[in-house]
Amino acid sequence: MAKKKPIIIGVSGGSGSGKTSVSRAIYNNFPNHSIMMLEHDSYYKDQSHLSFEERLKTNYDHPFAFDTDLLIEHLEKLLNYETIEKPVYDYVQHTRSAQTIIQEPKEVIILEGILILEDQRLRDLMDIKIYVDTDDDIRIIRRIKRDMVERGRTLDSVIDQYLSVVKPMYHQFIEPTKRYADVIVPEGGENHVAIDLINTKVATYFNQH
Ligand code: C5P
Repeated sequence: MAKKKPIIIGVSGGSGSGKTSVSRAIYNNFPNHSIMMLEHDSYYKDQSHLSFEERLKTNYDHPFAFDTDLLIEHLEKLLNYETIEKPVYDYVQHTRSAQTIIQEPKEVIILEGILILEDQRLRDLMDIKIYVDTDDDIRIIRRIKRDMVERGRTLDSVIDQYLSVVKPMYHQFIEPTKRYADVIVPEGGENHVAIDLINTKVATYFNQH
């Protein structure tokens, strides 16, 4: 019997919107199924040729910061049931790490990232497009906490980066992509009704095959 085509669920939204919580809530709902998560962030461009000071000047909220060509190549392989070697990103060093992760193909791919709905090639590969819509004040509070605990940042650096880059890029590139979404989820991972509806749709896909 021919294998069914895997489906790609895109989960987008601004930094700190709760994209990861929504993605995990879908992923964790299907523990015994063929499902995986993939982050656009893993495909931030390699910057090992630049000094650390130069890397600090990169605009990480602009589409140019990502190696989206490599992500698309990997998605096409996964759609053909081929294994990929997923890059690993280091937010402390601001570059790709030497390590890679072997990722086996799965029937459902949850693709997460701030700018995944911005690229038409990525949108065309998605079967379900989700935008997680969370107020700016909640997002900056979450980001301060996360970046200081997990990404080795100071409070001043998070605030400076937010005001000079993250906020303007959000309004220029991310927020306008909400119109491409099939589903807009307010408040991210806490929105159990929206997550249940999405999970019902995914369960239908698994049951159909
Ligand atoms: O997980 P999240 O969606 O927040 O990740 C995207 C954010 O990571 C971007 O808003 C970008 O500013 C930040 N980033 C960073 N330093 C890097 C790479 C990304 O602060 N080296």
